[in-house]
Amino acid sequence: MSDDTGEPEVELEARLEEQETFEPPESFVEQANVSDPDVYEEFEENWPDCWERAADLLSWDEEYDTVLEDGDAPFYEWFTGGELNASYNCLDRHVEEGAKNRAAIKWEGELGETRTYTYGDLLNEVEAFAAALRDLGVEEDDVVTLYMPMIPELPIAMLACARIGAPHSVVFAGFSADALATRMNSADSEYLVTCDGYYRRGDALNHKEKADKGLRGVENDVQTVVVDRLGDELTHFLGADAHDYGELVAEHEGASVEPVSRDAEDMLFLMYTSGTTGEPKGVKHTTGGYLAYTAWTSHAVLDVKPEDTYWCTADIGWITGHSYIVYGPLALGTTTMMYEGTPDYPEKDRLWDLVEKNRVDTFYTAPTAIRSFMKWGTEYPERHDLSSLRLLGTVGEPINPRAWKWYYKHIGDEECPIVDTWWQTETGGMMITTLPAINEMKPGSAGPPLPGGMMITTLPAINEMKPGSAGPPLPGVDARVVDANGDEVEAGQAGYVTVNNPWPGMLRTLYQNDERFIEEYWTEYSDEEADEWVYFPEDGAKIDEDDYITILGRVDDVINVSGHRLGTMEIESAVVGVEGIAEAAVVGGDHDVKGEAVYVYAIPEDGYEDRHAELEEKAMEAVLDSIGPIARPEEIVFTPELPKTRSGKIMRRLLENIASGDELGDTSTLRNPEIVDEIADQVAGD
Ligand code: WTA
Repeated sequence: MSDDTGEPEVELEARLEEQETFEPPESFVEQANVSDPDVYEEFEENWPDCWERAADLLSWDEEYDTVLEDGDAPFYEWFTGGELNASYNCLDRHVEEGAKNRAAIKWEGELGETRTYTYGDLLNEVEAFAAALRDLGVEEDDVVTLYMPMIPELPIAMLACARIGAPHSVVFAGFSADALATRMNSADSEYLVTCDGYYRRGDALNHKEKADKGLRGVENDVQTVVVDRLGDELTHFLGADAHDYGELVAEHEGASVEPVSRDAEDMLFLMYTSGTTGEPKGVKHTTGGYLAYTAWTSHAVLDVKPEDTYWCTADIGWITGHSYIVYGPLALGTTTMMYEGTPDYPEKDRLWDLVEKNRVDTFYTAPTAIRSFMKWGTEYPERHDLSSLRLLGTVGEPINPRAWKWYYKHIGDEECPIVDTWWQTETGGMMITTLPAINEMKPGSAGPPLPGGMMITTLPAINEMKPGSAGPPLPGVDARVVDANGDEVEAGQAGYVTVNNPWPGMLRTLYQNDERFIEEYWTEYSDEEADEWVYFPEDGAKIDEDDYITILGRVDDVINVSGHRLGTMEIESAVVGVEGIAEAAVVGGDHDVKGEAVYVYAIPEDGYEDRHAELEEKAMEAVLDSIGPIARPEEIVFTPELPKTRSGKIMRRLLENIASGDELGDTSTLRNPEIVDEIADQVAGD
């Protein structure tokens, strides 16, 4: 995304406008967890044993024998022979070390009510709910589905599952009933924890009704637990087969549940994400590698300390919330914040009010949120004392330099470093970002890959911040930008991101689908014969003169709407399911706040040509029903034809350009070039 993609107009001083690089203040560097620039070299020289540094942040029931087992690549295994429990690491050990009364979770509901769980409280409730889950029949390795919004019972249920060795599969609360059913069926899940409802902009939403509708599409007999979030606001829907969370916890109050020792490679959770095909992918993360990686990156990149109040504004229904609201921060024993509602309720200063009230140290959010803040104006942050902030972060999509600088000035008061962290559901944790406290010159040479070696010697010359560019790969991570042949591109050139060595937080496979795992991530650039495995994240990027990586966005059929990852094929299959629609193409078009927005181009069937309004309504409904409001199309355009190549392939690129209002370029290779102007006129006419 470049600076001229029509983002909200904001004033920036000329001085900031011109400044290209930024360094962290000395005061930050002095107190940082990781500030020694040698960390890059140390990781490179000791790879893969360098990852012991991550594993050392955890408490192991059984020490591991091997850091990396690569005999069956790309089915890598990490910390093999080791045993541990994630809930023990996130709770018990902090309590044992005297942090019983430290706040673990500080929660604020949208209506303003607050709850604080100390580490002691959290452990008690997790144990009670773990005991209840066991009583319901949950056994080790049973997948428990959690379909809840941002309420404390969500992380409690996650940790209760982890305690008894039952992998959780969290389904984002904004997803539809159908999406819930698809995920439960795919994971063969027999347990669901959900809630009656939650608040959005002051309204109580009925969530249980959606869950019930989803359950009608689930093949298994399901045991359901319902959290009473709304009290008397709505009748507390329980239904005949559901259990009340509050009652279960009260019945098991004071229970002591021994944390189950899990093998490092045992599954901690499943997380469904969108890919190129219509079917969501069940990304499998493990106990040892994932927890070590999220703890390490929380420590090194987010500079999390036990005495901090740390806030990541993501929803726990996505990977960012798993890794950087729940597991990473709690493994480090810090105070992690959760907010239930929207940032503009009751007013547009809600987040800044929370920062001020809770004296938040670190604030981690998405560029789409920053673009909204910019649009709303500086008066909202200016109403509040944000001086407690020490570090800022972004994740989820590229951040344009203007938004970066606005964030730096108006939220960080030019005192807080910003980490722009590139990673994915599949990577488990951050992969490409500057380390916030390292700003010394590095004498490393930028050279070619070592002969036969897995690591390259392209050390960043300096680890300063460059707005718009995520930065160098983290120590120990061999991310590159390559051309179609897999050769590294030259400075200034664009190509594709690859990761040329494994890392502990990586996904291990797609749930019960090893074949698709290889196909999706390990075929494009790997050399199977030579047993050389290269991970392909399907992102485009540019490599800068100083080896910084600027991410350009997805190169597959995944779009990024407000930091949410959506598969265009999933949306397409919903639309073509509508009676009267013959064919459809879904693409992402530029949007000044959302980053990208969903555009649908559809061909009506014979006899439906004059019924656009009716088809539009049905198509809209189909998308909401199959995915949810996050996928709501910005525009649905009806056309007698879609632009196609002579071989009959839809020219999606062209449709993207139309949606974004960009130049259309050469259309002469199309079978039906005349249709392009017709479609473009329709979009522009709206
Ligand atoms: C995009 C979210 C640019 C990227 C953690 C990736 C980013 C996809 C950044 C993964 C960033 C994430 N700069 N793009 N800092 N971080 N992305 O799985 O396209 O929801 O492939 O994980 O988000 O989305 P996911």
